[in-house]
Amino acid sequence: MAYSLDGKVTIVTGGAGGIGSSVCRIMAAHGARIVVADIDLDRAQALADELGEEAIATHLDLASEDSIGAMFATTMDRFGRLDVIDNNAALLSAEMAQRDGDIEHMATADWDATYRVNTRGTMIACREALKIMSPQGSGSIVNTASNLALQGNLIQAAYSSSKAAVIQMTRSIATSHGKRGIRANAVLPGLTGTPAALAHLPQELRETVEEETLTPYLGGPDDIAHLVAFLASDEARYITGQAFAADGGTSVHIPGFARLSRFFQG
Ligand SMILES: NC(=O)c1ccc[n+]([C@@H]2O[C@H](COP(=O)([O-])OP(=O)(O)OC[C@H]3O[C@@H](n4cnc5c(N)ncnc54)[C@H](O)[C@@H]3O)[C@@H](O)[C@H]2O)c1
Repeated sequence: MAYSLDGKVTIVTGGAGGIGSSVCRIMAAHGARIVVADIDLDRAQALADELGEEAIATHLDLASEDSIGAMFATTMDRFGRLDVIDNNAALLSAEMAQRDGDIEHMATADWDATYRVNTRGTMIACREALKIMSPQGSGSIVNTASNLALQGNLIQAAYSSSKAAVIQMTRSIATSHGKRGIRANAVLPGLTGTPAALAHLPQELRETVEEETLTPYLGGPDDIAHLVAFLASDEARYITGQAFAADGGTSVHIPGFARLSRFFQG
């Protein structure tokens, strides 16, 4: 039996982006009512218009506590409840990606800016969602982290640690709120072929990741979105506190072994 999200009021932060827009489309196709929340209101509105009258767009700057509060107020004004939030937005600007290197060279301001959006913003969004979901006695939180939170990296020390904090926050929520009918899970994409990721990624890095990915292909936004949508559904009711990597197995093997597999094939 296919899973259903029939009528579930769902906020997707960063909903206008590469993965977020796939989450919005796939969840809407399964019956969810969608709040597309994004710092880019024009793109969010265009997507909400495409999804139809059961979808709305709202401006969100995840760095601002007031803006996060306004997103929940808009959602409650329109729908009167909240069933699901996918905390998917993150600070991903090309200039920050350039500056986010190793810890020796980390500017404190860059660390703070990354944590302000990815960790603090996600925490505030989870907290405000819980304030609505607790009295309802139900809800599903899906936090989008990254497989970079699982292993060391030469660069992106701020980004990867901020996402590791999101995973641990997710476990805390699952533990404190499970008996109140609220589940929390984390989705950890690997390199995902969004327009932004493909545009900014150096070719050599892309080839290295492709070699280390166990599947014969790199995933796309829909590969992440299907996992988010299932975790949001009632069919996933026994799944909470988990961190699921959707990364073609990149994070589960000894580095270098994927490309050696040809020597062991009969
Ligand atoms: N694409 C990948 O390879 C990849 C890999 C691992 C994890 N992720 C994670 O997946 C999520 C989505 O990434 P994506 O690849 O779709 O990125 P994207 O850049 O395509 O989309 C991100 C969206 O977030 C919005 N946004 C940025 N700052 C915001 C803010 N302060 N407040 C509200 N909205 C804001 C952007 O406008 C954009 O629409 C992120 O959490 C990212 O860390 C992506």
